[in-house]
Amino acid sequence: MSNNCGISRWDDPSEINARLKKLTSQPIWEVDDEYYNSEIMPYYDEKCKASKAVYEEAKNYIPGGVQHNLAFNKPFPMCMEKAEGAYLYDKDGNKYIDFLQAGGPTILGSNYEPVRKRVEKLLEECGPVTGLLHESELMLAKEINKHMPNVEMFRMLGSGTESCMAALRIARIATGKKRIVKMGGAYHGWSDQLVYGLKIPGSRGLLESHGIPGADYRTTDECRPNDLNMLESILKRNRLKGGTAAVMVEPCGPESGTRPIARDYNKHVRELCDKYGALLIFDEVVTGFRVGIGGAQEYFDVVPDLTIFGKIIAGGYPAAGGVGGKKEYAQLMAAGLATGKHRAYVGGTLAANPLSCVAGTAAIQEIAAQNACEKAGKMGDKLTDGLKELIDRYGLPFVAYNQGSICHLECTGAMSFDFSSLSFIKSALGILKNKDMMYVRKDSMEKMGAAYMANGIVTLAGSRLYTSMADTPEIIDEALNRFENVFKHVKKTDKGLVK
Ligand SMILES: Cc1ncc(COP(=O)(O)O)c(C=O)c1O
Repeated sequence: MSNNCGISRWDDPSEINARLKKLTSQPIWEVDDEYYNSEIMPYYDEKCKASKAVYEEAKNYIPGGVQHNLAFNKPFPMCMEKAEGAYLYDKDGNKYIDFLQAGGPTILGSNYEPVRKRVEKLLEECGPVTGLLHESELMLAKEINKHMPNVEMFRMLGSGTESCMAALRIARIATGKKRIVKMGGAYHGWSDQLVYGLKIPGSRGLLESHGIPGADYRTTDECRPNDLNMLESILKRNRLKGGTAAVMVEPCGPESGTRPIARDYNKHVRELCDKYGALLIFDEVVTGFRVGIGGAQEYFDVVPDLTIFGKIIAGGYPAAGGVGGKKEYAQLMAAGLATGKHRAYVGGTLAANPLSCVAGTAAIQEIAAQNACEKAGKMGDKLTDGLKELIDRYGLPFVAYNQGSICHLECTGAMSFDFSSLSFIKSALGILKNKDMMYVRKDSMEKMGAAYMANGIVTLAGSRLYTSMADTPEIIDEALNRFENVFKHVKKTDKGLVK
């Protein structure tokens, strides 16, 4: 294991799951109405007028008023104007400690100067794109290979979503098999085949798949998170149904570790893939260059056949995606040339533009030179330990845990429902019965997010926090003071249980 590893401990998933189960079996605890109405709402009304004005106008031109899912914050989206290191500043000049970090790509901290300087130099020399080969493409592929030797070849694409689509195509060509197994709750972008069982295991084709013909995900199977027996049953059954081309995992657990897995889970998935002749795909969109410079594959000591990249791969700049792996598989992607052989067609006008490649190369070099994964991971440990201490001190049922710099703070358990033990019919009935409760819990999670934001902390939807190299012990202490300001006002409600 290289020094630059961001994970110093791995919690037992059964212990976390037991605490999450306890959380969802009791009514919601959230900030009380008096505090919300007398301190949180006035913050937004009085101090965030410029954000509100932009949002109100944006609603006329942009569906929902924001272009990015992560920006849908209660009571209305904040309009950010400046980002620097561990801080964000909104249009009204309010300053926030930033634990969203753009949803993961900025492990060096926002707008990291050494990366920006390299991008500026490129822009002066060549502009962002030419459509022809640029040396930075080679530099990035070599830089990835240096830290992840399993990625012998790398093809850059425009996003994680596209890269997941490409990986499935390669797996089908490589194996001649049809089916794909994904884990319940996992997110692999929004392509037709993979918007299946998002967030809530067992919600296959029910909650988020509107507008997608059922036939598009007929060859996708969903397996219960962390369940190797179920995975083996699916792989066995699939032998009679066209075979399994690939098993795709987020290596720290579905939805960025929201569904925790056992430390040796990925090793066993590798063994099962070998036994049943399926490719193992690691979706390292979040974990690549975050949980360690060698990614989750180095941390778990598992060799995937294909690795999917996004986020950090373009250093926080646009067009972040790519697929890499063993030569025999990566070479199955066509680079536009019709060869007459079976090839996975991939492309993108702005795929692998010099700007993204220079930013990605510079970011990975800086992550290595600065030991960024380890530094961000230590801050993740400190933040999580502090949150656990506050939760205990205030007698709250909340659950905090982390995988290095990926920190989870579950206040309502909105993400903890699971229908994956049930048949399709039963899970549909389960969802019907629990849907309102899930939405009440989601609302409450967002209300907590609004309270954190009003106290100067930006989170991912009120339940996830990414730390970065820009965080310091002092910043984490300050963040914990602010969390305490919120936790002080949390009370048990009578909401959130099916009546
Ligand atoms: C694990 C994982 N895979 C794939 C994606 C999709 O990547 P993108 O948003 O670049 O399409 C994401 C995005 O958050 C992700 O977290």
